[in-house]
Amino acid sequence: MKRCVILGHRGMLGSCLRGHVQGAAAGWKVDGYDYPEIDITDADSVAGLFDKEPPDILLNCAAWTDVDGAESHVEEAFRVNSVGPELLSHAARRTGAILVHVSTDFVFDGAKKSPYVEDDPPAPATAYGKSKLAGELAVASIAAHHLIVRTAWLYGPGGRNFVDTILQAAREGRDLKVVDDQRGSPTFTGMLSRTIWRLVTAGARGTYHVAGRGACTWYELACSALELAGIEADITPVGTSEFPRPAPRPPNSVLDCSKAEAFLGGKLPGWQEGLREYLIG
Ligand SMILES: NC(=O)c1ccc[n+]([C@@H]2O[C@H](COP(=O)([O-])OP(=O)(O)OC[C@H]3O[C@@H](n4cnc5c(N)ncnc54)[C@H](OP(=O)(O)O)[C@@H]3O)[C@@H](O)[C@H]2O)c1
Repeated sequence: MKRCVILGHRGMLGSCLRGHVQGAAAGWKVDGYDYPEIDITDADSVAGLFDKEPPDILLNCAAWTDVDGAESHVEEAFRVNSVGPELLSHAARRTGAILVHVSTDFVFDGAKKSPYVEDDPPAPATAYGKSKLAGELAVASIAAHHLIVRTAWLYGPGGRNFVDTILQAAREGRDLKVVDDQRGSPTFTGMLSRTIWRLVTAGARGTYHVAGRGACTWYELACSALELAGIEADITPVGTSEFPRPAPRPPNSVLDCSKAEAFLGGKLPGWQEGLREYLIG
């Protein structure tokens, strides 16, 4: 029986991916691990995972995802986002496993005026983005069989995310001010999980962008979420400068997913479809 291991399976994407793979991968043994039962930054911990029962596919959703916190915890962010993937890559290479690694739009600085394609030169402007890029480079250079999936603006059950935060704030009757000058591709973890599994099992290797098709601003995403949830709220579009953050946000996070679409032979669902699936079903 083939074995698939999901790391970070208690996180927002990892929990969804695990549920999807368990349903989709008949005949596979599917296991999930997370910190502290496994620490991807610890060589012994990673070796233990591979030595007992090496996976055929390893899906790495474990990461340091606190974008602002990474600015003041650079070393810790690099350990999880770069050293961890490097250790996983060596183990995958040693055992012949396929390593699927999830990365981010933050490897780009957001200055481009059109959607980012896989071959655009990365230029991360944040410690988080730099740590994720270092992880990508380790995976690409060490893991013989790898798939790197860059995604963006994730939301889904089981994790802190923008959509839930907005709906919660609106339900509490708070006035909402939402940034309207950053564009991105909101991505439902359900759609992303399905697409990752389709890509890896269909033999995709290398780097692919996978995100909700199309683009919007955070303000537009908030308005759509409120409308779908049937909540009326006072919501005001504002500029990024009204919300100074330790880590600068890319003005353009839009990912061009046509490479994945061409490989899979069909368009990915639009971001509005993903939002509808998440909020309505
Ligand atoms: N969220 C987004 O908007 C977004 C956008 C683009 C790309 N991504 C990427 O998508 C992936 C999944 O993101 P997510 O939002 O689902 O993340 P998440 O909810 O923060 O989950 C990450 C998981 O990794 C675990 N982890 C942290 N350090 C670890 C270690 N040393 N060893 C093992 N596990 C460890 C975390 O455990 P603890 O909770 O105990 O720390 C957590 O369960 C990440 O690679 C992220 O960079 C996310």
